[in-house]
Amino acid sequence: MVGSVRILSGRAFAKGVRSDLKDMIASCSGRPPGLAVIQVGEDPASQLYVSMKEKACRKTGIVSTMVRLEREATEEELLAVIDSLNTDPCVDGILCQLPLPDHISPARIASAIVPEKDVDGFHPINVGKLWRGEEGLFPCTPVGIVALLKEHAIVMEGERSVIVGRSNIVGKPMAALLLREHATVTLAHSRTKDLPELCRTASILIAAVGRPRFLTREFISPGATVIDVGTSQTEDGLSGDVDFDDVCGICGAITPVPGGVGPLTIAFLLSNTVKAWKSRI
Ligand code: GUN
Repeated sequence: MVGSVRILSGRAFAKGVRSDLKDMIASCSGRPPGLAVIQVGEDPASQLYVSMKEKACRKTGIVSTMVRLEREATEEELLAVIDSLNTDPCVDGILCQLPLPDHISPARIASAIVPEKDVDGFHPINVGKLWRGEEGLFPCTPVGIVALLKEHAIVMEGERSVIVGRSNIVGKPMAALLLREHATVTLAHSRTKDLPELCRTASILIAAVGRPRFLTREFISPGATVIDVGTSQTEDGLSGDVDFDDVCGICGAITPVPGGVGPLTIAFLLSNTVKAWKSRI
């Protein structure tokens, strides 16, 4: 707590989720779950994320396979790797780390991974299932955010939510998931007019714009729950999209950066991998 603000720790929650997955995997006999992670090129941030995913798999009892391709690899080469992972019986989940080099289409790659192994939830079949309210594999960060809100008994049903940022990885699937929880959803973006005023209508505000400390107190309604998805490297270290110190006295609950949304992404990647594994064994 800071004053009367609840700090929603993703780190603590993610730890519990990972520990439950580990226990569940350990209690099952037979083939363990398998996750294949593909990295094209040597983007330093991607390298860090990929190694964190690899370590998390190892600690949970998931067998991870790393496939590293050089930056100059062609789309055909990448598609051939995906083809062989699609048919590999020991691989339950496939993830191709983004961003990809400009000569490779992320949409074509997302469509090449079989939907049953699409642990990122980026395949058009899974996107369709998400919006239709059907079972499927859905993007890890927004799935983790909904789970965190539930963990803290934050009511979504009937509440007004505003999401700032319309990416395929966070903003759009976040809108679909909040809608599935019966929230009223507004998806705002860089061209939205009167953004602070709109954000002040939200009892749940999701910031996913990638602009450090962009959301200040004028965006926040008293008592609102603020979820900060931003992770920008600044001169003062890692910074979220929300000006934490500025909004703390106004909002009712907030995720910190670091230690908020970040740890959820990996925990729910593991959870998606286990879900894919269970449906295949
Ligand atoms: N790069 C940044 N976030 C993600 C993610 O959720 N999945 C993949 N595949 N790449 C990313």
